[in-house]
Amino acid sequence: MSLSSPAETARAPYHPLAQLANAALMADVPVAYELLSERGKRLYFPAKGILAQGAEAKAKAKRYNATIGIATDAQGPMYLQCVHDSFAPGISPRELYDYAPSSGKPELRKAWADKQRAETPSLQGQAISQPVVTCALTHGLSLLGDLFLDPGDEVLVSDLMWENYTLCWDIRLGARIATFPLFDRRLTGFNQDGFIKALAERRGRKLVVALNFPNNPSGYSPTRAEGGAIVNALLAAAESGSKLVVALDDAYYGMFFDPACETESLFGRIARLHPNIIAVKIDGATKETFVWGLRVGFLTFGTKNGTPAAYAALEQKTAGLIRATISNVSHASQTVVLKALLHPDFRRQQAEKVDILRRRAQVTATECRREAYADCWDVYPFNAGYFMCIRVKGCTAEAVRLRLLDEHGLGTIALGEHDLRIAFSCLLEEQIPDVFVRIAQAVRAVRAG
Ligand SMILES: Cc1ncc(COP(=O)(O)O)c(C=O)c1O
Repeated sequence: MSLSSPAETARAPYHPLAQLANAALMADVPVAYELLSERGKRLYFPAKGILAQGAEAKAKAKRYNATIGIATDAQGPMYLQCVHDSFAPGISPRELYDYAPSSGKPELRKAWADKQRAETPSLQGQAISQPVVTCALTHGLSLLGDLFLDPGDEVLVSDLMWENYTLCWDIRLGARIATFPLFDRRLTGFNQDGFIKALAERRGRKLVVALNFPNNPSGYSPTRAEGGAIVNALLAAAESGSKLVVALDDAYYGMFFDPACETESLFGRIARLHPNIIAVKIDGATKETFVWGLRVGFLTFGTKNGTPAAYAALEQKTAGLIRATISNVSHASQTVVLKALLHPDFRRQQAEKVDILRRRAQVTATECRREAYADCWDVYPFNAGYFMCIRVKGCTAEAVRLRLLDEHGLGTIALGEHDLRIAFSCLLEEQIPDVFVRIAQAVRAVRAG
């Protein structure tokens, strides 16, 4: 019988492979099953589908392989020389033009997993999933929503947040975004009380919590003490019966400019915290490796009682979603990132760029807090990432932004009524003092009408 209406489709039994994945979750990590959206429960990776049969053939069809939809010649994938001219010699057509698996290139997944473990000592002894490759972090955040958010479900985020969360989870999936104030009233640091209160108000419920440190737009990352308080607050919420998906948006991981910053992703501690918590790390090469347009990110699951079978179920559901939307992530991009990760000079080159950003952050910190600007803005705390934010006094941020553009040729981002985001990541050190001179001029000009 063909199923036509959405209601009928919703009642159709889950595919046997979805049932298998769900059974693995129910047996080992029942909270993960409970937290899945209806779509997440229904998802599976077609293990006997075209991709899987193709993978089997790749291993065994030594004579002829007439499986998947690429074109080959005697050497491997066909390619046009005018395409291949764009790549450095030594990168083989197989590493560029053939499809990558939906869950990502296995060597890249392993290299990223090794990097995550090396950077996250708290994961010692804790099983987590293999990272699944995504089309950078935006895609990972969207997948997280598909897996865990039904219409009406709540996502708790800080009030200073990346605006795209609204499109990913609210507009696209019908989830509700609730906020807690990121900073305390005096703008000295993370608002622990606000976070604890927001969790307490939702005690006993399903909740997705999204933590983004270093934060966009404020450029703030918690100190070690604040990181501990965040972990404790989540533990208390889980102990009191809340069931939580905690998403760690680690887009700007590694860009820490103050020795007081917690330099380990909170994923390490949250992934082993409590059976009621499913931690999902969303990270990637985009900002860390300075390859914004290559579009390579990762989504990784961790939970206290996670088992290989439960992680395989979550990875398969994620791969099924990827297969259904983009099928797989650019193989060329994955190869470029993999080669970088395995390059002996990778860490040194990365540290050099982070040092440049650190110096810009230091100059910014001095310039933006000059006494002469005290009447123009408050500075939100910042110690990490690409950005800093000021809270403009006596006029709207949008009016200042427009004035800066029209009179000074200076681009900034206005957020909400009074916040102005400045990406010091895009300013040369010597340009920074003049930027704040001009912002102060613009604020005063707007106020003077
Ligand atoms: C906090 C945050 N998360 C995620 C992203 C998305 O990154 P990507 O370009 O990898 O999709 C951004 C990009 O600006 C961001 O600021």
